[in-house]
Amino acid sequence: MLTGKRILLIIGGGIAAYKSLDLIRQFKKAGAEVTPVLTKGAREFVTPLSASALAGEKAFTDLFDLTDEAEMGHIELSRSADLLVVAPATADLIAKMAGGHADDLASTVLMATDTPVLIAPAMNVRMWLHPANQRNVATLTTDGIHRVGPDEGDMACGEFGPGRMAEPVEIVDAAIHHLMDGPLKGKHVIVTSGPTHEPIDPVRYLANRSSGAQGSAIASALAALGARVTFVSGPATATDPGGVSVIRVESARQMLDAVTAALPADAAVFAAAVADWRAETETDSKIKKDGSGRPPSLALAENPDILATVAGMTEGRPDLVIGFAAETDDVIAHATAKRKRKGCDWIVANDVSPETGIMGGDENAVTVIDAGGAEAWPRASKTEVARKLAARIAKALG
Ligand code: C5P
Repeated sequence: MLTGKRILLIIGGGIAAYKSLDLIRQFKKAGAEVTPVLTKGAREFVTPLSASALAGEKAFTDLFDLTDEAEMGHIELSRSADLLVVAPATADLIAKMAGGHADDLASTVLMATDTPVLIAPAMNVRMWLHPANQRNVATLTTDGIHRVGPDEGDMACGEFGPGRMAEPVEIVDAAIHHLMDGPLKGKHVIVTSGPTHEPIDPVRYLANRSSGAQGSAIASALAALGARVTFVSGPATATDPGGVSVIRVESARQMLDAVTAALPADAAVFAAAVADWRAETETDSKIKKDGSGRPPSLALAENPDILATVAGMTEGRPDLVIGFAAETDDVIAHATAKRKRKGCDWIVANDVSPETGIMGGDENAVTVIDAGGAEAWPRASKTEVARKLAARIAKALG
């Protein structure tokens, strides 16, 4: 997704610097090359050696290191990158940027650059809300500096509120968003994926065999076309896609809440194998055998239909709502009826009979059904199917 892209990662001196090491890993996972620059303060929290070992590149620290100036001056360093990312962006670094200071390598690079800059602020909540900091942040916004976060939550200092650095995946997501010039740039797409687990008691649940592989591949393919993707996943075994915001849920009801919270979106792809039913009552303690030899009865209740709920929204409905239909017989007829019943725009139908090996396998053979009819795609890898679907979505939204 970020293959061939170079990120200059400026690590500021705050406790969130420990997350920047994971950020380097996430950038590498997304295919980017990362050059770390550590401020003096950052070196109190993480070492240049750890940053350099994870990046697989030299980590820079001092402005007046003559060898570096001969090999790669600070001007060159600032311009060889496609994006400068400042994480954590401390109150001090933000103030320096807003004031145009250049008294160390990080601030000098930020002054000398002509490439886009993305900051991920991290500081105590009082510092974040302080008028001086708010003024500085507003100045940076006017200067065209991009920002991700800060998030709200419990902070390392024991307080609660805005100031926590955005999670590394959110930062990578934002970086992709600013770097990608794909046809879906500026579009937000929600993708649901994986199975759901419906609790029966504290140790048992109802589930299905979905691996989440197709949903994960679709989220990656959409992000690769420049979309901002919110990936809402049940407990899947497939690896999470890189460069997207991942929201983990367990049950269908949690998935519906997460999807609703992620709206508005331009498109939504419902690839999750949501359990149709849940246990009517979830007991607080483990259900025991009572010695009678008679199994307990399990009453089921119907889960909310997330796809039908979103497709039926009168306000804020995404322009394109896509559902999946996993069928074992009469695939096209059932899927065509399902498209109408659920009120979605497209249905991606597939035959999940055990002999196809599709459920849990690496390949898929789908038929895309829209108002115009059915379009059968040849059997291909789930990655290839995802690319084709993402391209079709880009065309429809374009
Ligand atoms: O009704 P069925 O489960 O076959 O519908 C499949 C489609 O509906 C999929 O796109 C699935 O993600 C979605 N769905 C949902 N919420 C449910 C059940 C299914 O979003 N409770």
